[in-house]
Amino acid sequence: MDYEEFLKNCLAGNIDKVRAALESGQDCTGPPEGTETAEFDGRTPLMAAASGGNKELVTLLLEHGAPWNATDKKGRCAGDYAVEAGHQEVVDLLVSFGCQAELMLGLLEKRQLQQASETGNAEYLKQKLTFDTDKVLDEQGDAVMMEWERPLMEAHAEFICSQGGDILNVGFGMGLIDEAIQRRSETTRNITSHTIIEAHPDVFAKMISDGWDKKPGVTVLYGRWQEVLPQLSSYDGIFFDTYGEHYYDLSEFQSHLPRILKRGGVYSFFNGLSPDNEFFHGVACEIVRLELRSLGMESQFLPLPAEAARGDSVWRGTAARTTFRWRTLRTRPPRPTTPRERHERRPDR
Ligand SMILES: C[S@@+](CC[C@H](N)C(=O)[O-])C[C@H]1O[C@@H](n2cnc3c(N)ncnc32)[C@H](O)[C@@H]1O
Repeated sequence: MDYEEFLKNCLAGNIDKVRAALESGQDCTGPPEGTETAEFDGRTPLMAAASGGNKELVTLLLEHGAPWNATDKKGRCAGDYAVEAGHQEVVDLLVSFGCQAELMLGLLEKRQLQQASETGNAEYLKQKLTFDTDKVLDEQGDAVMMEWERPLMEAHAEFICSQGGDILNVGFGMGLIDEAIQRRSETTRNITSHTIIEAHPDVFAKMISDGWDKKPGVTVLYGRWQEVLPQLSSYDGIFFDTYGEHYYDLSEFQSHLPRILKRGGVYSFFNGLSPDNEFFHGVACEIVRLELRSLGMESQFLPLPAEAARGDSVWRGTAARTTFRWRTLRTRPPRPTTPRERHERRPDR
């Protein structure tokens, strides 16, 4: 069957014809050589089937090796096609398949991921940083942290300080969340301690010259969180937001939460996972939810405002821009809908 016809059958949900073609050797992994013309949009059989909404056919293609995460020329994956066509069952199926595939890959490639991550973070920590009033830039001109994120940091601070007590922030950056924690500490008076971990020498030097180590209740721990971990006690609120690290590191940090997060404590992190594609972002959120659940924590994903990131002016002077363009992606509750989220360790654990 030629590729166009195969796509049409996938879209129309003609499962018998598609099965017969697959059994006679039809390739469903992507567009064959020669279809890369300017007019062709890069659609794969799985994308066509996802648009058509036949769940059984989508399963059949996945079983025959159709990649769940291939993208077309506009960067859209099969999940995006299913979302757009409103086929919720297919969305759920692809989210679930994507999670399993990524979790399996994470296990198989753990060693390589760990090495790549350590190298990337070590390289970042050697760079000279530039401090502007509204951003901190690395040597490539990429933004380590930006002022437009202040409302997001306020929201995270509100959440991690909601129990009062001992608060831990990993990654100082511009100190936006730490300022918000301090403000709460002054007004509510129920924050006992505020610990900050920071690994970059330039950021640490600025923290010291700005007097952060002298603020009442504040302890600054200099070093990578990976090295500082053994010194940590346990906390009522924890926030994680580093730079030059990967999902591997976030996942690794989270695996220590059962020790460093008190019963009834709350945890939140900067969620820049797959920021350019809402479906991949949704899958990443679901993976986080599953991982945290395996540690005994329930997650809640809340929408936070990221409109400020959409204006051109905020990115002026930076080398790269992150798109941050999510719509609401419905999966089974709790729903991954946001660029930032929060997680709660239930008291009954
Ligand atoms: C995005 S900024 C944090 C912004 C901060 N949330 C705020 O409100 O301004 C990330 C910070 O994490 C620090 N960092 C990077 N890798 C780290 C690591 N392994 N351990 C501790 N801090 C790290 C960076 O130097 C940087 O200061």
